[in-house]
Amino acid sequence: MTSPFPQKFPQTRLRRLRQSPWIRSLASEKALTPSDLIWSMVVHDGDEARIPVGSMPDMFRLNVTEAAKAAKKAAALGIPAIAIFPHINPSRKDDEGTEALNTDGLIPTVIKAMKDAAPEVGIICDVALDPFTTHGHDGLIDADGYVINDSTTDMLVRQALVQAEAGADVVAPSDMMDGRIGAVRDALEEAGHVNTMILSYAAKYASGFYGPYRDAIGSATALKGDKKTYQQNPANSDEALREVAMDIAEGADMVMVKPGLPYLDIVRRVSETFAIPTIAFQVSGEYAQIKAAGDRGWIDGERVMMETLLSFKRAGAAGIITYFAEQAGELLNA
Ligand code: PBG
Repeated sequence: MTSPFPQKFPQTRLRRLRQSPWIRSLASEKALTPSDLIWSMVVHDGDEARIPVGSMPDMFRLNVTEAAKAAKKAAALGIPAIAIFPHINPSRKDDEGTEALNTDGLIPTVIKAMKDAAPEVGIICDVALDPFTTHGHDGLIDADGYVINDSTTDMLVRQALVQAEAGADVVAPSDMMDGRIGAVRDALEEAGHVNTMILSYAAKYASGFYGPYRDAIGSATALKGDKKTYQQNPANSDEALREVAMDIAEGADMVMVKPGLPYLDIVRRVSETFAIPTIAFQVSGEYAQIKAAGDRGWIDGERVMMETLLSFKRAGAAGIITYFAEQAGELLNA
């Protein structure tokens, strides 16, 4: 790299700026604060307070009461928002995921409980059918198992309306159907939910890093095949910009890149190209990796957790959805 500035040793010793904590702190370009964190939380519709998730050490599915308590905790830690994901009793699943439209279902119930407990905390709801379908896909499938775009979108619109009606601040379609952002926006406007925001999972890749999540929400054993006909090819980067551009044109207020760490290049490109808050999702497999190696003493888990969270900020993310939110929030408040 050629530089217009003189950078000659010993006039320039870059280590001067690293010699002690005060100057490292003064010269730091980025900082991580609790207000950058979005708490990724899995809720369940049973009675048990906290159910451990096997593939995600120290992660629990929470019942409604615990979720409301967690919302208070988020407020106390200065964490602005919670993203909720449901684990649905298998007896309530069907091929169409109709439980997603139940106005008295788990998600509407949790939203209300959280809003009662901590009205100042933003609630972000996943819009997709996979927690509710017997086959584990994000939408409706045809006889060949292909996810049908337009009829899925109709379902997602109805699901988003149920969430908005229950008090969700943000609806976050994670399904990757074409055209669903515009359809959801139109329906929200028509229903008078003009201030309900849309966080689009705009650049979402068909990734192996979602494995533990499917375990957490109970869709792992159900899923037939993979999601490559709707989620993006990990080889592609230009395509992410087209996805984001379309979702913004259709009315997305914020966009997401997912997974997180393996796709920091996409976070950088998206945040530089579009003047819109870009959220990175540090997904379940990223959490599991750090936890597993940390628990074995192979890495310093806490240190790596904070380093990865900061790296999202460096790449240009406005916020990070993470299963580490509570732990990182506690450290940042200490
Ligand atoms: C699906 C959805 C997924 C996640 C959030 N919403 C997984 C998938 O696409 O199969 C992943 C979250 C994680 O891995 O932490 N609608």
